[in-house]
Amino acid sequence: MTVDIGEKLTPLPYRIAVLPGDGIGPEVTNEAVRLLHTVSSLDPALSFEVETLPWNAEYYLERGRMMPPDGLEILREFDAVFLGAVGDKRVPDHVALRQLIFAIRQGFDQYVNLRPVRLLRGAETPLNSKTTSDIDMIFVRENSEGEYSGVGTIDFAGTENEVANQTSIFSRRGVERVIRFAFELARSQQRPLQSISKGNALNYSGVLWDTIFDEVRQNYLDVPSENLLVDAAAYHMVKTPERFGVVVASNLFGDILTDLGAALAGGLGFAASANLCPSREFPSMFEPVHGSAPDIAGRHMANPMASFWAVGMMMTDLGYPDWEQRILDAIEVVLEAPTPRTPDLGGTSTTTQVTDAVIRALESRWGASH
Ligand code: NAI
Ligand code: MG
Repeated sequence: MTVDIGEKLTPLPYRIAVLPGDGIGPEVTNEAVRLLHTVSSLDPALSFEVETLPWNAEYYLERGRMMPPDGLEILREFDAVFLGAVGDKRVPDHVALRQLIFAIRQGFDQYVNLRPVRLLRGAETPLNSKTTSDIDMIFVRENSEGEYSGVGTIDFAGTENEVANQTSIFSRRGVERVIRFAFELARSQQRPLQSISKGNALNYSGVLWDTIFDEVRQNYLDVPSENLLVDAAAYHMVKTPERFGVVVASNLFGDILTDLGAALAGGLGFAASANLCPSREFPSMFEPVHGSAPDIAGRHMANPMASFWAVGMMMTDLGYPDWEQRILDAIEVVLEAPTPRTPDLGGTSTTTQVTDAVIRALESRWGASH
């Protein structure tokens, strides 16, 4: 993106809202912002204006809410949102998540949660016989309704007859748009598609999901596709991960299977995600999948790789997929060396040392002399 000022082309900055959050959230987002500035220093066509918004547990304890009443209007002015992680024992988790993360995902119609499950070179999988070419899939998780709609009741609370009723909402529009998004992605990447459901037991929501999958599939007969029951999918992900390409799943099933995927692909330190608003009416949000990790917060030992991958996904969304690839290449260069490694990968290096190495790898490959 450039603007003509006199005879020189000057890049117009992308405006990025950064929500560092709690715990290791600020530690990894600091490093992600350093990486972002490295990208802009290496690419004359790119510049970023980063604004940090302190909407976290401290903010909640002072003001009784996770973000200001006009928080979504403030965020709307940005090109993208980058989130660290929220979670602090002084604030109930369901309050922090609902008032910030779910409020943004739902308020900005970010109905696609994109989560790559890909074993990077140099990362370790617990599946001994599998390699980087076997573990390479991408999840399209429904992000706006389904089992996490938040609808339900508790009757006869505190009595012997207490009954919780948690309602899943599956709308034709909601299911169709996410399956269509997944088919488009599979077609553009020339990969097979798996649709995950449980139509044999969930006789309303599962059946509707499968019916819509069959309808949409008729428009994508060039894409090899199959329907898997969620329990069978968990089994196959471990036994034959190479079977999977683009995987579309409801909110709950996608949540669970992507954590299984994170374990297969080297751990939470690598898991990144994008909450996409495909219509582009609102900004999308990029985040590492992990939480605020209070057990290691403040000790400079958080693995920043997931945040770097999330920066890469943001670059793709802004229109620069080459930069996601370059960031991933730099991560792999660092992982293939014996050091630096954060303690979750068996090393003793700090978050900053790992960042320095990734930045060096990017600069040595894409710096001015190349
Ligand atoms: P967690 O992801 O914060 O931590 C789980 C385990 O993984 C911990 O042992 C932690 O030290 C380790 N870990 C996580 N990320 C790591 C990293 N980058 N480098 C090295 N080790 C890492 O999940 P947990 O403990 O269940 O939740 C802690 C808090 O985070 C809770 O308040 C929870 O609600 C919140 N949370 C927030 C999320 C978000 O903001 N998107 C997502 C998940 C949890
Ligand atoms: Mg999860």
